[in-house]
Amino acid sequence: MTSPNNLPAEVSSFVGREQQLAELRRLLHRSRLITLTGPGGAGKTRLALRLAGEVMDHYPDGVRLVELAPVTDSRLLEQTVATAFGAREQRRHTIVEVLLQTLATSRTLLVLDGCEHLVESCADLVGRMLQACPRLTVIVTSREPLGLTGEVIWRTPSLTVPPAGDGDRPELLMQSEAVRLFVERARLSRPGLELDSSSSPAVAQICARLEGIPLAIELAAGLARVLTFEDILVRLRDRFRLLTGGSRTALPRHQTLRAAVDWSYGLLSPVEKQLLMELSVFAGGFDLTAAEAVAGSDSVEASDVLPLLSRLVDKSLVVAEPGAAQQTRYRMLDTIREYSYEKLHEGDEGEIRRRHSHHFLDFCKRGHAELRARNQLDWLNRFTEEEGNIRLAMEWSLVEEPEVALRLVGTMDRYWVMRGHLAEAIDWLDRALETGASNPEPKADAFLARSRMRWIQGDYDGSGRDAESGAQIAETLGPSVALFSATTLRGVLSTGRGDWNTAARLHETAFQIAWQLRDPWWVGSSLNNLGLIALERGDYEVARSRLEQALDGFRQAGDRFTTALCQDSLARIYIKLQNEEAARRCFQEALVVSAQFRDAVNVSVELEGLAEMELAVNKPERALTLLGAAKVLRAPTGAELQPEWKTDVDAGLAAARSKLPRAVADAAWKKGSSMTMDEALRFATGAPPAKPAADGNGDLPLTAREKQVALLIAEGMTNPEIAARLRMADRTADAHVEHIRNKLGLRTRSQIAVWAHERLGTA
Ligand SMILES: Nc1ncnc2c1ncn2[C@@H]1O[C@H](COP(=O)(O)OP(=O)(O)O)[C@@H](O)[C@H]1O
Ligand SMILES: [Mg+2]
Repeated sequence: MTSPNNLPAEVSSFVGREQQLAELRRLLHRSRLITLTGPGGAGKTRLALRLAGEVMDHYPDGVRLVELAPVTDSRLLEQTVATAFGAREQRRHTIVEVLLQTLATSRTLLVLDGCEHLVESCADLVGRMLQACPRLTVIVTSREPLGLTGEVIWRTPSLTVPPAGDGDRPELLMQSEAVRLFVERARLSRPGLELDSSSSPAVAQICARLEGIPLAIELAAGLARVLTFEDILVRLRDRFRLLTGGSRTALPRHQTLRAAVDWSYGLLSPVEKQLLMELSVFAGGFDLTAAEAVAGSDSVEASDVLPLLSRLVDKSLVVAEPGAAQQTRYRMLDTIREYSYEKLHEGDEGEIRRRHSHHFLDFCKRGHAELRARNQLDWLNRFTEEEGNIRLAMEWSLVEEPEVALRLVGTMDRYWVMRGHLAEAIDWLDRALETGASNPEPKADAFLARSRMRWIQGDYDGSGRDAESGAQIAETLGPSVALFSATTLRGVLSTGRGDWNTAARLHETAFQIAWQLRDPWWVGSSLNNLGLIALERGDYEVARSRLEQALDGFRQAGDRFTTALCQDSLARIYIKLQNEEAARRCFQEALVVSAQFRDAVNVSVELEGLAEMELAVNKPERALTLLGAAKVLRAPTGAELQPEWKTDVDAGLAAARSKLPRAVADAAWKKGSSMTMDEALRFATGAPPAKPAADGNGDLPLTAREKQVALLIAEGMTNPEIAARLRMADRTADAHVEHIRNKLGLRTRSQIAVWAHERLGTA
């Protein structure tokens, strides 16, 4: 069994440490807080990850890794940790309160990696967490201990090095961990390398010189591509002789490492040095495009970046790993980043930061549109991946280029809403609006973004003020997205005051603007609002037709996230119209999408909707299972049900229970409350249980064309849309869908979607 976890796959082999791991496992039985200390490059992170992987089974509620290197602000620390556990901000509770509540009874392991720059805030947060959550265990890595009572401080030792004198006995040498690490890494450039009696003395001495410090050894091994082991040793020895004044006494470990880093930096070509220095600007890694944008200066051509970058990877100065959305992502170990950043700081830091900020402004502008379109899930993940960089860009531009800052915060609103980071959003928006930057369009966007955040937070007065400020500017702009948003926000606020007539009038106006902009998403959005007003007024037929049109608009735009929200509303209208079949279909389709976004809040709402449907057809047992699953999935988010909906859910629960013998009811509830999100999804849609993924899809019964069609169904497309996308006749698309149904034995589109998502991956 593996517990839910976010531990990364290892990108290089792991060496030794058996004894230390055994000791740490024993310590974990007795202590709930272990801090692995030691200088940079000592192997703290690697060891902590390995340990977490080995003890995973003891923490059935999950193992969460939170990397702190890109987090610079203590307020963001709390949010980052809480978000990693699925907690969402709530109106009446801070995100930390939600987090503590969520973890109050759960048996969970938190790995907090790289705390040295936030020791005090980490100590504060971890202290509170351990106190409020008696079954939580924390492993910390940090150059300094947190200083909490009960903290077990564990000094990370170096890798074992060969005893002097064993140098010419290769078989003995390989018992040393440091030598094994050296050989493993040297093999990356010399496949099949084996130590023999001529090469081994040099390797033994290199490892001893570097005192078994893993990072130093990786750097030395990285030179094996261009130097012999003997060459490496000679140069290293010269370097260290300078530092120790020729004495053989060892340096403290951090100085040894510093010397090793200095040395491998010194061996780089001038352009490699330049690039390494420039790359230290990134927080939390980067992709190739970002590297090209930032480094494309006078000394390094953009087209040279890739070959240079690969050389830095070969030399272990940069790590390459798979990122979100099938892209390679690069990152520097903290130690190397700090070292290179010192050099950048001495040089032309401002220019590099400027390019960094401008690159992320472009990224955000593009992403802002992409978050409403077909690849939004990839983009959502890419935004998360770039969060450190975007924050850095905002921080820099607030001081140096306020106009850029204003644009940046305006393009982040969609992301912040989708992730629910409202407090952080408002903080950035406040700061950007205070700078005096005055370009009208981004200024209007920023006011309107803040209005939206405040509205979601329930601060209707603040939201209203911002909507008015935004509207005033937007009115000078003519038909524009800003004017549309201002009008819509005013409409939504009027609805909140119960002023339906004004609201309807404003949404009508918004609709006209959207129509002029010829953008299906905005048209959909205003139809959605008009539909909701009709629903409130009891005009169910009107509401249905508006929402169906809105759904069409969101579908055309490819925005599945919003499609799900719209289908949820539509389901509720169908219930009023007593069309249970249509309601069930809408809930199921919404559920499939929400689950793909891992959106626990909406998943649980949709499960509850489906429970109501089951009750309506007299299936109280299924209803209870769905309600149990919804409750458990919602819990970690800290979200509360809207009061009127809560009454319905409670009533449904009581009704279902009253129809069943107690033991049966209890069992049904229990079954639901032990479900994962995916299990609940399969249960709710009636999709067949997941089978282990087939190798290369070889045994799938579908043709290549049918697989394409199934994937598009999973994207929420209708048959005519699929036909248009694949350039086939409508009838042909219908026939493909029919074949898929028959071959897989599935009835509904949502079942096909679940199947395709699990077996074929995303399109
Ligand atoms: N036991 C090990 N086996 C293989 N590689 C290791 C081992 N320990 C550390 N490393 C490598 O050494 C480098 C530094 O280790 P890291 O864990 O990042 O150090 P720290 O967190 O102490 O700064 C990384 O590239 C890491 O993969
Ligand atoms: Mg580390």
